[in-house]
Amino acid sequence: MKHSVFVTRAIPGSGIQMVREKFEVDVWDNKFPPDRDEIASRARNCTGLISLLSDPIDAALMDELPNLKIVSQYAVGYDNIDVQAATERGIMVTNTPGVLTDTTADLAWALIMATARRLVEADSYVRGGNWKVAWGPSLLTGQDIHGKTLGIIGLGRIGSAVARRAKGFDMEILYHTRSRNHYTDEVDDELGGRSVPLGHLLSESDIISMHVPLNEQTEGMIGKDELFSMKKSAILINTSRGAVVDEESLIWALQNGEIWGAGLDVFEEEPTQEDNPLLSLNNVVVAPHIGSASIDTRSKMGIICAENLVAGLKGDKPPNLVNREVIDND
Ligand code: DGY
Repeated sequence: MKHSVFVTRAIPGSGIQMVREKFEVDVWDNKFPPDRDEIASRARNCTGLISLLSDPIDAALMDELPNLKIVSQYAVGYDNIDVQAATERGIMVTNTPGVLTDTTADLAWALIMATARRLVEADSYVRGGNWKVAWGPSLLTGQDIHGKTLGIIGLGRIGSAVARRAKGFDMEILYHTRSRNHYTDEVDDELGGRSVPLGHLLSESDIISMHVPLNEQTEGMIGKDELFSMKKSAILINTSRGAVVDEESLIWALQNGEIWGAGLDVFEEEPTQEDNPLLSLNNVVVAPHIGSASIDTRSKMGIICAENLVAGLKGDKPPNLVNREVIDND
């Protein structure tokens, strides 16, 4: 049987070509994502699906794709996929971990620096023709980063890469994470990091960076109480998933000086609406979910995605299988 694959968006690099060499490939060639019905109709007879985090792959959709064997997600996060439903239907789900770790950690740091040092405001200030006095003692003063305390919530691959970068800034590192793993050992041993209860991290950190996946336990984990317990000079950075922070509470905290600033690559709803109050706040730096968006990384993600898909459709175990039970139960 010749496998056919639907790809929900054009992906940069050679990944799609690798899949084309083996299977029939149909790529959704539009900058806007296909809606649910379009995926259902274009992927109807497909055995493989390459999905993006903007595609809701739920049980009802899977039921409309009777031949589907694998969903190869072009991302490390896969909260858009109902993995349990996939497992129940014997559909493999794969992702692209590892390859985007450093790129995303770099972006978290770009947001830390841009927010703390008010870089976006400074840029607009100069371009907007406001720079009339050569040098001002209080002009655009921000927060120091060096020597401060960095609090990392979720110390996995990306969280620990963010911690490693903090070493060059002589920062104290606190973290709160679900379980101990080799990243926690490394951060303790090599960077002198400390695992602390969430409350301690929130009240002691100057910069707090979110690195948890979105799931039932993490949704809204930073709400009004958590924001209230942060320092008034604190900066919150989120490059994970928007919904781990309660956006309404965040707006409240930023508007009322409960925290000092925020650097956000992710939002509860994406794309975020133009009238989102966060966009009118000077103490917020925003980006449109570009954590992994370097040319190299996006291309490597395509290759990993292709390798996962090809392995799965050939009957091998894909290198980054999320729901191992599918194979174990076979
Ligand atoms: C991911 O991979 O989950 C990022 O959010 C996008 O690359």
